[in-house]
Amino acid sequence: MKTIIETKKLCKTFSNEGVQQHILRNVDVSIYEGDFTVIMGASGAGKSTLLYALSGMDKPTLGEIHFCGEEISRYSDDKLAVFRRKNCGFIFQQIYMMDKMSLMDNVLASGLLVNKDKKAVATRAQELFKKVNLPEVTYRKFASQISGGEAQRAGIVRGLINKPSVLFADEPTGALNSANSNAVLDVFSSFNQEGQSIVMVTHDLRSALRGNRILYLKDGQIAGECNLDAYTKEDPNRRDKVNEFLKSMGY
Ligand SMILES: Nc1ncnc2c1ncn2[C@@H]1O[C@H](COP(=O)(O)OP(=O)(O)OP(=O)(O)O)[C@@H](O)[C@H]1O
Ligand SMILES: [Mg+2]
Repeated sequence: MKTIIETKKLCKTFSNEGVQQHILRNVDVSIYEGDFTVIMGASGAGKSTLLYALSGMDKPTLGEIHFCGEEISRYSDDKLAVFRRKNCGFIFQQIYMMDKMSLMDNVLASGLLVNKDKKAVATRAQELFKKVNLPEVTYRKFASQISGGEAQRAGIVRGLINKPSVLFADEPTGALNSANSNAVLDVFSSFNQEGQSIVMVTHDLRSALRGNRILYLKDGQIAGECNLDAYTKEDPNRRDKVNEFLKSMGY
């Protein structure tokens, strides 16, 4: 198992009107290449905070983050932005795209930041749109003209356009109905099967079942983890095992 991200004594403290809130307390965690890692925990436990720190979206207060062999925690904002573009893909609960541009042009705009070969980027975008089941009539539409489920799948295309080392997702199905959630989760599972490393924050048991490793965040630390086989649809014990784990964590 190759480690792709490793934190050492990661701390994040927020100050609100003089009151210090220690959200991450000396977190030592490793994320492994090819894994579908899920982060769970109560609301306010610091899941998003951890995800933002792991992905270089936000800097920790203290501690180290080794990502693909680089210690990124003290990088300048500019250096971090370059690192992120190359190594990290992001998907959030709401996908923000430029409204007056087609989905394809939104994806190209992200891709061309890293790769100047427009033809190569467009070809990859087409392949990805196909994989997430968005036909050309849809990806030629403006971002303002599509449904929530389509937006989320287009977000995955944009998140993967630069072949990131890790795809980070924060509640990616949080705003979707169950059919759209399943479609999005199937896309995640299929990319993971092809080797894409994924780190996903979720509240949702069904989403969590897609992971092969669930980390539970409590009191600013990883309080426990649950290791599973790679996801398959036919796995009758999976739900019970995860339920039991979550119960033991007090979820
Ligand atoms: N920029 C900030 N400034 C001050 N406090 C913050 C900031 N960001 C987060 N916090 C606080 O840190 C705590 C953890 O927030 P975080 O968003 O990481 O929680 P979460 O586990 O993702 O919760 P949820 O499941 O509700 O999304 C919360 O109490 C929040 O108010
Ligand atoms: Mg959150």
